[in-house]
Amino acid sequence: MVRREGTQRFILHQDIALIEALPTRDAVAEKAASIITNIVKKKPDAAITYATGNTMIPVYEKVATSIAAGEVSFARTKAFHLDEYYPCDEKEPHSFVSFLRKRVFEPFKVGIANEINGNSLDPKTETSRYNSLLHEQPIDLAILGIGPGGHIGFNERGTAFDEETHLTNLSEETVRRDQIERGQNSPKQAITQGIANILQAEQILVVAYGEEKGIWLHEALYGNVSTECPASSLRLSGRKVTVLIDELAASQL
Ligand code: GLP
Repeated sequence: MVRREGTQRFILHQDIALIEALPTRDAVAEKAASIITNIVKKKPDAAITYATGNTMIPVYEKVATSIAAGEVSFARTKAFHLDEYYPCDEKEPHSFVSFLRKRVFEPFKVGIANEINGNSLDPKTETSRYNSLLHEQPIDLAILGIGPGGHIGFNERGTAFDEETHLTNLSEETVRRDQIERGQNSPKQAITQGIANILQAEQILVVAYGEEKGIWLHEALYGNVSTECPASSLRLSGRKVTVLIDELAASQL
């Protein structure tokens, strides 16, 4: 069912708190930024998991603008890294940690930045170190994009929903996107927060633009809840997920 308010559409879904379609990417980014800053205004020491990706660039730019204007301070917040290629040096152009430092940790002046070390010689020790941090610190907000096949973080098709932080092999679809569509020389493995870590967040914000992501979201929201579509796990979160999409993505729902 769809409710309209001007150019805004609210698509009702029984398992998801809110699906809101806005006319442009800019309007989506504006709304996403206001959700993030409002959480920090209410809880100045909020713990937030940040996704990387092109989707997030305008969102983070708008948050940074609010911070620079003195509207909100992230100085007491704790930032968490969602996922990272493995092995991956921070100097690599595809490094997610360098994305987050440049677009989040530094401009937001976050209090603590918890990073995944994609260069660790022992990924098992690194995943369990990072997972312990997530156990010690309840997450107030997890910000997610959506990737090939409906992956969230780097939880690919087939990932068990009770999996925590782990090293994973990237799917053929993801490797194709990275190496062929994006021309990246990135690895075929990654360390990612697991679906169990993501679902434990108090609130989850998903941002997506464009028809292709609309198709993945359609599978996630209206297909079976199944490990074949990692984002379908969000329907098990107890209605704490907000999905913000543009009209192109909404055209597929
Ligand atoms: C990668 C990351 C995801 C991210 C996705 C979307 O696959 N692992 O965490 O959500 O990219 O990226 P983009 O916004 O560039 O489409």
